[in-house]
Amino acid sequence: MQDQTVDTETSNLLENSKERMVAPETQLGEQFDQSLRPERLKDYIGQKEIKENLEVYIGAAKKRKHALDHVLLSGPPGLGKTTLANIFAREMEVQLRSTSGPVIERQGDLAAILTNLEPRSILFIDEIHRLNRVVEEVLYGAMEDFTLDIIIGEGPGARTVKIDLPHFTLVGATTRAGLLSSPLRERFGIQFRLNFYEPEDLKTIILRAASLLGIEIVEEASFELARRARGTPRIANRLLKRSRDFADMETSGVITLPLVERSLEKMRIDLEGLDQMDCHILETIIEKFSGGPVGLSTLSAAVCEEKDTIEDVYEPFLLLKGFLLRTPRGRIATERAYTHLGISGPPLSQVNLI
Ligand code: ADE
Repeated sequence: MQDQTVDTETSNLLENSKERMVAPETQLGEQFDQSLRPERLKDYIGQKEIKENLEVYIGAAKKRKHALDHVLLSGPPGLGKTTLANIFAREMEVQLRSTSGPVIERQGDLAAILTNLEPRSILFIDEIHRLNRVVEEVLYGAMEDFTLDIIIGEGPGARTVKIDLPHFTLVGATTRAGLLSSPLRERFGIQFRLNFYEPEDLKTIILRAASLLGIEIVEEASFELARRARGTPRIANRLLKRSRDFADMETSGVITLPLVERSLEKMRIDLEGLDQMDCHILETIIEKFSGGPVGLSTLSAAVCEEKDTIEDVYEPFLLLKGFLLRTPRGRIATERAYTHLGISGPPLSQVNLI
């Protein structure tokens, strides 16, 4: 708060909300191992173009001693959106506050967070597409003018209080930028879509993690893990840790190629990196819906998985690998999916649809 004394009623509102809401970064239930996260941009592997641009934007903001412009990061889970938010704070040498869209229920919750920020600090809102509309509208002013209009009381006695905020950087993360309303999306001066990683980059990430965790792994084993990690660092590191479990129990503890192959087979991860659910989705489309097209709701009921999870977690990789097509009439399993699963087809009628 800069030039306004906030009255007791406003203060109470902010205080009550503050206790419930402001989760320090480490309490967010993020399963990804904190210690494996790179803390500086130079240690961040992959996403070359994004990294190069960020070096410029961060460098320029620091040079001007300004807050970094608001950043929107989109892309499937596990690609490093939270990691980047942490890096921004480190590189800018500022405080990081983390929360998530569904946690901020009321305008008072948001007010409590914003009024407690230090100048230039980073506010990370994960799942920003899940903010409710009232909160989202309060955020517009905060992002644009660094002011907060909050309504105190109800009915005829209601009044608006304008509070000045420190200049901060909002880093919003979402699985799909298209889920954000356009007024919110347009307020982000920097927008990046994170892509799946190349196996070479994932291999480097695995070797870095192995070195940090004191795990011995041979190079060809690290590449095999990388190849089967669905283009996702979080999965790559998880596979590394599970392979270490197999190595510790079955052999000398060194992760070799035969050990990786055995471990992945036991984890039911196939040669293309598809897990059981990926295969279940494709098999269901092929066997229950004659290869498709099938609508998302029908598919979701058939495989007993949330629509959002299918869209955010499974589909992007199946689309990238060419196992699945999205058409206006629904999802279709491609010929490649039939071949991969060893099922004959697809039927001619469906080939025409493709
Ligand atoms: N660990 C997870 N993601 C990483 C990345 N992009 N670079 C380095 N280490 C990582």
